[in-house]
Amino acid sequence: MNELVATLYTPHLVTARTRFETGAAGVMLDEDFDPVLFELFLLNYCSRGVRMTEPVESWIERAGKRCREVGMDKLGIALQKHAAAEANHHLMMIADTQALVKRWNANQPKPLAAEALLAVPATPAVDAYVTLHEDVIRSSEPYCQLAIEFEIERISVTWGPPFMRQCARLLGPDSNETLSFLAEHVEVDQGHTKFNELQLERLLTEHRSFAPALARTGAAALDIYGNFLAECLGFARTMRGALLGSKGREEPSAQIAQV
Ligand SMILES: [Fe+2]
Ligand SMILES: [Fe+2]
Repeated sequence: MNELVATLYTPHLVTARTRFETGAAGVMLDEDFDPVLFELFLLNYCSRGVRMTEPVESWIERAGKRCREVGMDKLGIALQKHAAAEANHHLMMIADTQALVKRWNANQPKPLAAEALLAVPATPAVDAYVTLHEDVIRSSEPYCQLAIEFEIERISVTWGPPFMRQCARLLGPDSNETLSFLAEHVEVDQGHTKFNELQLERLLTEHRSFAPALARTGAAALDIYGNFLAECLGFARTMRGALLGSKGREEPSAQIAQV
């Protein structure tokens, strides 16, 4: 039991975690969700997610370096070690985009092109995610990178398994073959989340006063990620209208976080 995480950090994340679960992330788990819209969501998530996944290794490595510069050697070294584990994960998103496009083109009348999907500019949430990391790295509180990692990798542990079940239910049991990024992260982020939580506990043991900045940064990361999912759902709806000429089956209405 990581007591200081539970008492000093987690209570300040309750609202943001609820906002995440009841936003687009929650909508995606609805049992009446339209399978075509779901597929288009995945296409947007994988292709647009490349720009927020490719820099992860560099963000963690540079945050670790900054921690060492401000005298936090232990955390800095731990972060630098973790950085290598995140190298090239964007390549899985590129491969998944290509596999999803292949699947779409085999089943739908209007074809898509993976290169075109991968070439679209960054969305506002992706820009915000990049800015959050860069701000943390250059700030006097580079240890806040740990809170970003904890909240985002934790999503793979909490939302990941039900989301993968939804993928299998709506797209068929073979869908995992087109979702290597998600499938792998549901696996490996269990270990990463335990690692992050342990680092967080160690950090709070030495510096209880860091809790508010950590909680603020973790909540900001989670909100931005929730907004990214909402953006992907919005793009998917627009594409469904353009590609199929109708809105298709209505998905259940729910509160979607404003982007
Ligand atoms: Fe990763
Ligand atoms: Fe990870």
